Amino acid sequence: MLDLVANKVHNEKRQGESYAPFVVDPNVYTRNFYIESYGCQMNFSDSEVVASILNKEGFGATRNIEEADLIFINTCSIREKAEQTVRKRLTEFKKLKTNKPGTLVGVLGCMAERLKSKFLEEEKLVDIVVGPDAYRSLPQLVSEATEGHKSVNVLLSREETYADIAPIRLNTNGVTAFVSIMRGCNNMCSFCVVPFTRGRERSRDADSILNECRDLFENGYREVTLLGQNVDSYYYNAESNSMDHAVTFAKLLEKVAQISPLLRVRFSTSHPKDIKKDVLHTMAAYENICKCIHLPVQSGSTRILQLMNRTYTREWYLKKVDEIRTILPDCSITADIITGFCTETEEDHRETISVMDHSQYDLSYMFFYSERPGTLAQRRYEDDVPLDVKKRRLQEVIEKQNQLSLTNYKKDIGKTCKVLIDGESKRSAEDWVGRNSQNKVVIFPKNYRNNQKGDYVDVLIKDCTQATLFGEIV
Ligand code: SAH
Ligand code: SF4
Ligand code: F3S
Repeated sequence: MLDLVANKVHNEKRQGESYAPFVVDPNVYTRNFYIESYGCQMNFSDSEVVASILNKEGFGATRNIEEADLIFINTCSIREKAEQTVRKRLTEFKKLKTNKPGTLVGVLGCMAERLKSKFLEEEKLVDIVVGPDAYRSLPQLVSEATEGHKSVNVLLSREETYADIAPIRLNTNGVTAFVSIMRGCNNMCSFCVVPFTRGRERSRDADSILNECRDLFENGYREVTLLGQNVDSYYYNAESNSMDHAVTFAKLLEKVAQISPLLRVRFSTSHPKDIKKDVLHTMAAYENICKCIHLPVQSGSTRILQLMNRTYTREWYLKKVDEIRTILPDCSITADIITGFCTETEEDHRETISVMDHSQYDLSYMFFYSERPGTLAQRRYEDDVPLDVKKRRLQEVIEKQNQLSLTNYKKDIGKTCKVLIDGESKRSAEDWVGRNSQNKVVIFPKNYRNNQKGDYVDVLIKDCTQATLFGEIV
């Protein structure tokens, strides 16, 4: 969730991104798969696990959908629109199946989990339906489908973390990578479908996480983002590893940071109720733990927060923001916000705007409420805010965020910040693009220096927009 452009609806920037070929060598692989991912970073990270599983089975990844024998779509259910996007994309696959008989279409991820075998009834072209905890069964499912039997596995697990599977980095810049540290969610926010599609929360073996991060660093990567729906409740009781028995998130963060001062560490997402002082102090103690916290507020009204089952009040959240500002004065705070949740009044909406003012978010992902089948909110409350009101409030929240972002970005002008170079700027081959510790995008001229992506450089900020800083290497 970290690399999305401000004000864009959650995840849209990366939606539908296809993956670069890993190895396409007809001598090694007899069949090719193509995979397209939607939704959050967890899905993108899962697609890398899927690629690894398929690779071992002799399938090569291809970026060219036309030459694929297997087409996978890793889906998201978070809002109705996310599901509509997938449905639309599936209709486009029909032509491919007609042109190349024998091509198999597989639906993975959260929508597969939500709809289960109904998918096969509703979308006739689908051959395989597989939920987020069942990817190990893919070889079996593919072989059944190859023999003409449609196959489904949507079993959720209490243990599966794919800890032993080394993900194959797809579509990578070779500098930044996502590392999944836990799966599932136990929080039951009333609007949210994730606990139903991803199952119970479980933490991945701490040693396997550290090994993956170390490998990435040794292979030239310079930034890892530790991923989970609720990273602060990470807890691993290590029986036989080199660490203390109880590995908390703060401990894990520290261990990853100690791999090398040259390896940046980020994490996402924090639930405001779970982020603790030990995490903030660990962040303060290590320069390479990036000073950026994604702290979704959802609403600024205590009454709405209670209906959402977020378990904190407006005041409690604001105190958390103040605590972060005290311990980490240069930390950027970002948020997720939902407008028009059940029963939301204009007064509740104004409270959301005022929380934004107090928190001074650098960026927010903002959405209007979309009722999801099976959630607590759908069962208990009426979705009673008219769509035009939801959208108007969303627009107001977006405008507020635009102002806050511009004000905050302007404050960086005249300052020097350390930037990790991600690669060449898309706009000009003369410029580098990178990010600072606060995760702000920084663009600056290469200036005939021999820098490369993955290098750290000090950049003096000279100008900005509400989403980008511009500067020069000093
Ligand atoms: N686990 C993360 C977020 C997961 S979903 C967390 O707790 O922060 C990402 C965001 O999508 C949520 O923070 C919320 O703002 C939004 N979202 C989730 N369900 C939604 C719904 N039914 N309608 C609109 N937005 C929703
Ligand atoms: Fe959904 Fe809440 Fe869990 Fe986030 S913490 S995934 S919003 S239930
Ligand atoms: Fe979507 Fe599932 Fe992620 S619903 S946001 S892909 S956990």
